Amino acid sequence: MMDGSADMSSVLECSDTGSQKDRVVTEEEWLQKWETGNIGFHKEHGHPLLQKYLDVLLNGRSGLKIFFPLCGKAVEMKWLADMGHSVVGVEVSEQALKDFFTEHNLPYFEEPVPEISGAKVLQSTSGNISLYCCSIYDLSSSIVGKFDGVWDRGALVAVNPCDRQRYVSSMITLMEKKSSYLLVTVSYDPSKHKGPPFYVPESEIKSLFGNHCEIKCLQKVDDFSDKHREWGLDYFLEVIYILKFAA
Ligand SMILES: C[S@@+](CC[C@H](N)C(=O)[O-])C[C@H]1O[C@@H](n2cnc3c(N)ncnc32)[C@H](O)[C@@H]1O
Repeated sequence: MMDGSADMSSVLECSDTGSQKDRVVTEEEWLQKWETGNIGFHKEHGHPLLQKYLDVLLNGRSGLKIFFPLCGKAVEMKWLADMGHSVVGVEVSEQALKDFFTEHNLPYFEEPVPEISGAKVLQSTSGNISLYCCSIYDLSSSIVGKFDGVWDRGALVAVNPCDRQRYVSSMITLMEKKSSYLLVTVSYDPSKHKGPPFYVPESEIKSLFGNHCEIKCLQKVDDFSDKHREWGLDYFLEVIYILKFAA
């Protein structure tokens, strides 16, 4: 087991998220986090839960088109591209996207996205990684097509609570038939930390996605660290779900 953490499947969830519902993090604040290097969310060595549940996402398929919403400079994009999948990401910070290509020594070129004012796409010259520099809310399937798989880590939980429904609605329009969506959320006492990441309970995952796909919780992993203690928390879990869209 690559995460090396205890299975926390029996831990009870807090159901009150009221203290976070009005919190808004603006696009400018995200850009500033990138400018000042305040990116504690970035996992330099990739996420062990993607390694662990990759087979669940791929389900024996090869050459998939995989989407990374709110991608930052997630190194998992390189992993999946190296396995022969085609990767699409979206991110508001151009710096994050340029850092991604530079840090992996990947040559790329930039092109405007005619359908979205001010947006551009940074594309690896090998053609298998396309990262859109714009808001997720500006993307549509007429621009990027539909996806066979999604890795959503630090994405739903980073979206402002007031935009959660809009985010999920646009994600659903981007899903191909028979597609799979790995979703990582976090669980902690939301009265003790304002987020992001925001706490999204299982009941809300069910109400957001439940009419569109099958949802299965795969694992709850203890991810508590000094950072969370400094936030005033006394527990912090990562929760991974597989969402399966029907034929
Ligand atoms: C918590 S970080 C996670 C990044 C990445 N998923 C990872 O696992 O490292 C959230 C990212 O979303 C980006 N972001 C925030 N709002 C966005 C939006 N509306 N559209 C696209 N990207 C956005 C931020 O700039 C930030 O890089």
